[in-house]
Amino acid sequence: MMMQKTATVATAEPDTLDRPADVRAYLAGQENKTLLRFLTCGSVDDGKSTLIGRLLFDTKLIFEDQLAALESDSRKHGTTGEDVDFALLVDGLEAEREQGITIDVAYRFFATSRRKFIVADTPGHEQYTRNMATGASTADLAIVLVDARQGVLTQTRRHSIIASLLGIRHIVLAVNKIDLVGFDQKVFDKIVADYGTFAADLGFESIKAIPMSARYGDNVTRVSDNMSWYRDQPLLDYLETVPVESAGGQKPFRFPVQYVSRPNLDFRGFAGTVASGTVSAGDDVVVAKSGKASRVSRIVTQDGDLERAVEGQAVTIVLEDEIEVSRGNMLVAPDARPEVADQFAANLIWFDEHALLPGRSYILRTETDQGNATITELKYRVNVNNFAHEAAKSLELNEVGVCNVSLQAPIAFDPFAVNRTTGSFILIDRLTNATVGAGMILHPLRRAANIHWQALDVDKKARAEQKHQKPAVLWFTGLSGSGKSTIANLLEKKLHAAGRHTYALDGDNVRHGLNRDLGFTEEDRVENIRRVAEVSRLMVDAGLIVLVSFISPFRAERRMARELMGEGEFVEVFVDTPFEECVKRDPKGLYARALKGEIKNFTGVDSPYERPERADIHLPTLGRAPDDLVDELEAWLKERGYC
Ligand code: ADX
Repeated sequence: MMMQKTATVATAEPDTLDRPADVRAYLAGQENKTLLRFLTCGSVDDGKSTLIGRLLFDTKLIFEDQLAALESDSRKHGTTGEDVDFALLVDGLEAEREQGITIDVAYRFFATSRRKFIVADTPGHEQYTRNMATGASTADLAIVLVDARQGVLTQTRRHSIIASLLGIRHIVLAVNKIDLVGFDQKVFDKIVADYGTFAADLGFESIKAIPMSARYGDNVTRVSDNMSWYRDQPLLDYLETVPVESAGGQKPFRFPVQYVSRPNLDFRGFAGTVASGTVSAGDDVVVAKSGKASRVSRIVTQDGDLERAVEGQAVTIVLEDEIEVSRGNMLVAPDARPEVADQFAANLIWFDEHALLPGRSYILRTETDQGNATITELKYRVNVNNFAHEAAKSLELNEVGVCNVSLQAPIAFDPFAVNRTTGSFILIDRLTNATVGAGMILHPLRRAANIHWQALDVDKKARAEQKHQKPAVLWFTGLSGSGKSTIANLLEKKLHAAGRHTYALDGDNVRHGLNRDLGFTEEDRVENIRRVAEVSRLMVDAGLIVLVSFISPFRAERRMARELMGEGEFVEVFVDTPFEECVKRDPKGLYARALKGEIKNFTGVDSPYERPERADIHLPTLGRAPDDLVDELEAWLKERGYC
């Protein structure tokens, strides 16, 4: 899916702002005002759009779709001086584009005489959580809309919990459609009390409740005449004055490196945006992951060098020494370093229709880094209505939980509570490329930190040479009853007779021992294959030719198994027997029972089999004798030096 994003700039003088230069000038004029980023959340009919529309209409702001102009202009002009705010607007979009989030979130920029605003307009019903997670990632405040007739709903609670997880500290409880309950103070008071009780543990710094009618404008920009009992600020007034700290300056310096800029041999700089803290020429810095130290010699921008750069500024940093800093690394303050670990605990929000599966490999992406990761343990799911921690094996669409994450290689990060930028990540499905979850890091797990790879003198090569063979996994996949085990068994006999050192791992057998705790749900099958892949890896390391016969129905796990092995060490053999034929053969009588509904989650019946798209060897079995198929396999292996 293509990303569609729009940024709309609303200005008081639209006619004069039709050229990018004018937009810049306008934004430069806004520079001394503080900026509030907020988003609105609520259920489908709570009136989100009406509210934003009303807010902008009443402030006499008119929209102009100017993203194209803004974007191309920012590339040409870089980001300094008068462009700072401008970059701020577009940067948000770029950052998410970098993260590969492919959803529809519109950012609207507007300003009043007192403050500038960026509001994330997050549409979508089913996908609302995903949109919200995107829109909220940089927001200071959330307007939680509640329909006065409905009160606090499950959705209200879910959105509030997510807002809290995403680090939003200020809430406006907008009790909307108050006109439809006759402007009744009792209704308002009850909703405020309900919400207050619920939100007490969510850690918000402020909750401001305002009764309003977005439709008619009551308490949006003007105090309503219809509610003599409410004499407090209307919404806009509150948004203009609510204090939101910009504590960025006090936080330690963090500079995620977006890319290494090397226009010619004399210049080497690290380009990125200051995620927190400040940096000055002459400052000592270290590379987060390697701990290598250097000093900042220059802070370069297209409009000249800076003495100092602050949070949010995009700059190129030049160091005094030629040290290795790759993309995905961070330059940081030497006396306040981030964590570097390959395992950590995190809050996770899941927003894919396909449930989270512990053990499956996902791409984990931080501000600049990325790597393969699995959820090693789902500790619990949070019940959004009562905060109960519930045992769960997976997270479904829109669910929230706490889990342990394990990465293939360490990353540098801060706990999310300390730094929203360097403490968050997204998870991407490796096959569909969809963003499936968002995570907020709690703390590193030390359990693996002190375990290093032990270098052994007798290695895979030595073991393989002693056996005079090329170690490999022959991975047989296919439906139950397709003939995997029969073929693997015949082939192993031949290899063995020829003096090869082999071992056969068979689904049915391994499920009696190592994997006896696993059944046939999706989660269990993922774990089944993960363990067998790890065992195969050890056996290949031992120099063996391993024959694995498991249905292994999912592409993601077969791919994971392939990636565990070295080049040429994984041979995927697709034993392709049509479902009808397997049912006819039914060697164990299982299909008959599954088709009667006596066995649940049976592959091909009520559990999917994802056919390999590019198996190394495709073996259609119909009309062919097993010996014949084995001869074909053997010839393939001989040709490539496996036997
Ligand atoms: S896998 O999907 O996790 O790879 P595996 O190969 O280990 O499956 O086990 C498959 C074998 O378990 C089948 O050949 C069959 O004998 C048996 N079995 C029992 N229940 C099921 C089921 N629901 N689905 C598939 N196979 C089952």
